[in-house]
Amino acid sequence: MQLQNATALVTGANRGIGHAFVQALLSAGVQKVYATVRDRNSLEAIRAIDAARVIPLQADVTDRMAVGHLSEQAPDVNLLINNAGVLSFGNILDIPVETIYQQFDVNFYGTLNMARAFVPVLERNGGGAIVNILTLVALASMPGLSAYNASKAAAWSMTQSLRASVADKNITVYGVFPGAVDTDMLAGVDMAKTSPADIATAVLQGIETHQEDIFPDPMSAQFYAAWKQDHKAVEKQFAAM
Ligand SMILES: NC(=O)c1ccc[n+]([C@@H]2O[C@H](COP(=O)([O-])OP(=O)(O)OC[C@H]3O[C@@H](n4cnc5c(N)ncnc54)[C@H](OP(=O)(O)O)[C@@H]3O)[C@@H](O)[C@H]2O)c1
Repeated sequence: MQLQNATALVTGANRGIGHAFVQALLSAGVQKVYATVRDRNSLEAIRAIDAARVIPLQADVTDRMAVGHLSEQAPDVNLLINNAGVLSFGNILDIPVETIYQQFDVNFYGTLNMARAFVPVLERNGGGAIVNILTLVALASMPGLSAYNASKAAAWSMTQSLRASVADKNITVYGVFPGAVDTDMLAGVDMAKTSPADIATAVLQGIETHQEDIFPDPMSAQFYAAWKQDHKAVEKQFAAM
């Protein structure tokens, strides 16, 4: 897909990787970015990035009514970036079940809500792309991120079903599997991290070069290579972390 003159929509655009996507898309020459946020208070700051090309909109991705309204407010989208996500730490035996539900609500159902609402929009616009931001730990679980791993693994499975379901609609579905990224999500975790700007740039390159599965940073590329070779070894390595 050519990004020049595309009309994009990014969820979770007020901070972290989502904010970096808005800036990278503008640099890539898109016509317009709908930058969607959950918190109304961040709408004006988003608009200020580029008042001519950024349209700030508000929706919680877990709210199907709000997501449906979003698809009416952004009828010209041909590139949907499902970026919004949440992470809570905790072992699978101890993490409160409400926290597990919340991870699935945002990371799985939120992504699905957006895809269902926007497939007809993309179809009406002649096709386009849906980009689901997953994670490296969708491939192999880290026990301390138990609910997050599971919600993102489910989102990966859904990504594959979605890809097959829209293949005849001229819509390409991308799965993105970042390693550690330097955002609020991993604040306080002391490890090597890639900048959100580098992730956004790598993902847009992946879209332009049509890589369905995108491993956008050195950590994810390295673990993906190891996982392809011996997935049990990666599982054991993650389990020991
Ligand atoms: N950081 C990493 O190491 C890493 C690695 C792999 C994958 N990822 C994935 O990358 C994506 C972006 O993460 P990030 O690192 O940029 O995290 P972040 O800085 O914590 O930002 C998360 C974004 O998601 C939004 N969000 C959360 N729940 C939402 C909801 N119900 N409806 C709408 N928006 C919601 C947040 O909005 P509020 O400001 O309103 O909370 C925020 O804009 C996530 O899907 C994450 O799982 C991150």
